[in-house]
Amino acid sequence: MSQQPAVVFLYRESKPLHREIFRDFVRAIADCGHLSVCVAPEGTDLGAEQLDFFEPYPTGPGREEAMRQAVARAIERHRVVRIISTTEDDVIAAARLREHHGVPGTGLETAIHFRDKNAMVARARELGFRVPRSCVPHTLGTLEAFAGTVGYPIVVKPHNGISCGGTHKVEDVDQLRALWPTIHQERHDLRAEEFVEGRQFHIDTVLRDGQVVFEAVSAYAVTLLDHFRHRSIGSVVTGTQDSALEQRLAAATRAVVTGLGLRTGIAHTEFFVCPDGELVFGETGARMGGGYIFPLYRQAFGVSLPYTWVRAELDAGYRPDPTHRRTAAGDLLFSADSGVISDITTADELLALPNVGEAQVWKNPGHHLAHVDEAGGQGLGFTVVTGDDATDALENAASTLRAFRVATQAAR
Ligand SMILES: Nc1ncnc2c1ncn2[C@@H]1O[C@H](COP(=O)(O)OP(=O)(O)O)[C@@H](O)[C@H]1O
Ligand SMILES: [Mg+2]
Repeated sequence: MSQQPAVVFLYRESKPLHREIFRDFVRAIADCGHLSVCVAPEGTDLGAEQLDFFEPYPTGPGREEAMRQAVARAIERHRVVRIISTTEDDVIAAARLREHHGVPGTGLETAIHFRDKNAMVARARELGFRVPRSCVPHTLGTLEAFAGTVGYPIVVKPHNGISCGGTHKVEDVDQLRALWPTIHQERHDLRAEEFVEGRQFHIDTVLRDGQVVFEAVSAYAVTLLDHFRHRSIGSVVTGTQDSALEQRLAAATRAVVTGLGLRTGIAHTEFFVCPDGELVFGETGARMGGGYIFPLYRQAFGVSLPYTWVRAELDAGYRPDPTHRRTAAGDLLFSADSGVISDITTADELLALPNVGEAQVWKNPGHHLAHVDEAGGQGLGFTVVTGDDATDALENAASTLRAFRVATQAAR
């Protein structure tokens, strides 16, 4: 066994951007003088990458056990000092593996706080945060009584969901009674919350030993659940990060993520800012923000979120060095259509527009375009634009998105 320290990272890719994240991971590990060991599903084509070791595992039923065995093989062969999950789905598995193999890093109790919204919200309330009132929907009557107390609308959602999947906004008792037969079998995987009216923010934080290494506060352009089926989902980050609101959100996020137990690692946290100015905790995950968020901060600060995260995990003294600070807005590309794509604006056409810092288009004519069913979008791609201030960046984003067109034919 080589004495060179090794980092195991659990990797899965479903979007082209994941490969860029992968490369920044490997680069950060190499820059720390560690060996990179990627544990990923069989068939992940990493042949051209600068990786040190690939430990593939078969997918399908028993995936998690196969992944555990792949990590165990890596532990036998290398001096593993860190196990990192690149996806939210493997956050709990990574914590179990750390505890099982005695590898330092986030433990299971903390991982549960970041994955189970029942535990997360209860713990945030214990820490003194304002949280939506909630219940577990044991029966239809429980839900009707809950709505009677907090008033409609209410939100019914999985306790461990992601990207608005399986999340319902229920406006009245008729909608609730219509929804119930479709959810009653999963009732104990769900939680209900009072609907919080407010602007949504996401705050992305990298921590080392409880200290902030990188943080950024971004405002969603629209509330996600109300809009993701109808338009592009995006957010704006200012280069200055110096408003009173940004500073309050950053401080609240530090308190909640460290209060939930995170010492070293990354968090993607959501707060609502209510019309009365109060902050209400939404949720947090021990993961990188998805979609356009990595390119958004790359444009705004010249900082790579995955690189910074991995350096922070490995290197106590590391601090990212922003090359610039400017205001930027990111968006997922969206189309209201579905079917087979006959024509689509290319990334080069988008990049030729004013203020566009980055654009990627992942579908071509002939590809199938699905209806959007989660806030993660349709896998069409993303844009990041810059602007003088938040309003300007949002206007630039809107005009860029107007230039993006997709024509489809009904699938045969
Ligand atoms: N109590 C709530 N009040 C208002 N909107 C909510 C509430 N809970 C969830 N939402 C909306 O649903 C979206 C998804 O819920 P969230 O708890 O963030 O789960 P996830 O993003 O993991 O799917 C949020 O971004 C928000 O727009
Ligand atoms: Mg969310």
